[in-house]
Amino acid sequence: MATSTFPDNFLFGAATAAHQIEGNNTNSDWWAFEHDPNAGCRDSSGDACDSWHRWDEDLALVQSLGLNAYRFSVEWARVEPAPGEFSLVALDHYRRIVERCHERGLVPVVTLHHFTIPRWMSERGGFESPEIAQRLGSYAERVTAAIGDGIGLACTINEPNVVALMGYLLGVFPPSVRDRARFEVVSEAMRTSHRAMVDALRAGPGQFPVGLTLSMAEMEAIEGGEAQYAQALEHLEDAYLRAVGGDDFIGVQCYTRLRFGPDGPVDIPAGARRTMMGYEFRPEVVEHTVRRAAAVSGLPVVVTETGISADDDTERIEFIDSAMRGVAACIADGLDVRGFFYWTLLDNFEWVLGYSQPFGIVAVDRQSFARTAKPSATHLGRVARSRELSTPVVADRAQ
Ligand code: FCB
Repeated sequence: MATSTFPDNFLFGAATAAHQIEGNNTNSDWWAFEHDPNAGCRDSSGDACDSWHRWDEDLALVQSLGLNAYRFSVEWARVEPAPGEFSLVALDHYRRIVERCHERGLVPVVTLHHFTIPRWMSERGGFESPEIAQRLGSYAERVTAAIGDGIGLACTINEPNVVALMGYLLGVFPPSVRDRARFEVVSEAMRTSHRAMVDALRAGPGQFPVGLTLSMAEMEAIEGGEAQYAQALEHLEDAYLRAVGGDDFIGVQCYTRLRFGPDGPVDIPAGARRTMMGYEFRPEVVEHTVRRAAAVSGLPVVVTETGISADDDTERIEFIDSAMRGVAACIADGLDVRGFFYWTLLDNFEWVLGYSQPFGIVAVDRQSFARTAKPSATHLGRVARSRELSTPVVADRAQ
């Protein structure tokens, strides 16, 4: 066994998102979408994990595991329930979370937009509205005025490329559009909105790094798929990685490998190991995307999400170890990688797939909302506490 050591100030955390854990986020476009019988959602988010009330229990868990950071999102639909009308109670709620993170020795990593928008914004055209950048900018201004002095790291928009792809090209997220031209308009609006939010976050109180979190994959072309591959790389990754110059970091979020053939993405090879999401089991994606994000953007990297959906928690431990070994290899090569956030803390509402995907290191009873840490939680905490990961000299799994 060799041992990888992580730097002193390296962030070891777990990530969550408001809509997936808080419950009853009724003023958001996703709540409306979940209740549309034609949308194809498995479940309503309902009470989710009731983290709107149980947030301090969540923080206590993160602390008790030995992690030193917590990533969560502020919910725009709660903070600005009507255009220009801001809820002091909602802002105060998030202020208490930020303060309590500090009391518990956790760096609060705050995402401002994680997939949802207020219904009123969606009625005005959502990301196709000419107002979107200014609206997100003024929301960011209010959030930073309320909590900026406590933010550890700020993420503007979570996976803008996924919001654009799923909502406007594949039509499986709100607003269910399938139109390449509209997808391109929205993709550009994402980048403009990000810039407006960065400016607002930097103008307010507090001194904290600001960045974008991007969904990335280990992309490959199979024979004849070179053009599709190049197009996906450009639209989904590079256009964003070029637009983040001047930011303080880039957040990498990655789950699997994608292969492209002449007609677009192809299914993973028969017999390949899959996760419950149907993704190829591919922890190597973390090292691949961290290296790529650093090379193309030139920025320090934080792995703001990676993880797997698995009933068998030993698979999660295997994934975490292999993913973190990849991060350690990047650091050993001199790359500036500043943190690793497992997706996710709690088994939660996985968007269209509802409560069918256990990504969490902590199980949540759907009747009592009781939280139970899985062995992977203890394992991740042990790595975080020691800042060390034993690396088998020979690969653990026969290929
Ligand atoms: C990411 C999302 C996150 C969660 C994971 C599984 O794309 O950011 O909310 O759904 O995938």
